[in-house]
Amino acid sequence: MELKAVEFSPEHLSWTQTFECGTSEWAKLAADWIKNAPPFPSALQSIQIHGTTVWLHFLEVEKLSEEYLVGFSSLGTTRWSIPPPDGPKREAGFIPMLAVALAFQGRPEGGQPKPYSHLIMEHIITEGGKRGYRELCLFVHEDNVRAFCLYQRFDFQVIGERDERGMLRMLKLLY
Ligand SMILES: CC(C)(COP(=O)(O)OP(=O)(O)OC[C@H]1O[C@@H](n2cnc3c(N)ncnc32)[C@H](O)[C@@H]1OP(=O)(O)O)[C@@H](O)C(=O)NCCC(=O)NCCS
Repeated sequence: MELKAVEFSPEHLSWTQTFECGTSEWAKLAADWIKNAPPFPSALQSIQIHGTTVWLHFLEVEKLSEEYLVGFSSLGTTRWSIPPPDGPKREAGFIPMLAVALAFQGRPEGGQPKPYSHLIMEHIITEGGKRGYRELCLFVHEDNVRAFCLYQRFDFQVIGERDERGMLRMLKLLY
């Protein structure tokens, strides 16, 4: 099954206002990011300020003529020292935020063989490849086990040391 990816813009805010992806600190941050809820920087700010592309991922159920917001993903450009911590800086793909709605987390039942989180990761990796990035990178909190395991499954590796807030940098080579 495929998810429909739609580029996020202000007109989609009505879709994201009820988005929930968990009760952890980072899940709330992710939900607020896509809802454009202050006080933290939001998806719309990331688009406007950093040129990030943000996608909403929809599951279309034809039988019911309905669509559901499964999650969101994002991809922008950053300049990182690669290899870290003090290699020369160059452009790399950066994933500011992604999330899967609570109802779609975990291994789906029925005909959908892959977790939705995997479909969303594959989308980002494909987009990163199309844009010609050699690497994709991101930050994840060391206690965010689900996200960390997901990134590891897609061959992201921890680089350098955790920072004082417990954030890890992870990097995936695309080619
Ligand atoms: C991170 C997120 C996208 C992952 O999606 P998900 O549907 O929960 O992911 P999965 O069910 O595929 O689980 C991911 C991995 O965590 C593991 N996992 C699931 N629940 C777990 C738990 N309670 N404890 C430990 N590991 C767990 C799974 O086994 C899987 O690893 P595997 O592929 O090696 O088996 C989702 O949990 C989410 O939206 N979280 C809130 C927002 C967030 O943290 N975003 C990332 C910010 S960096």
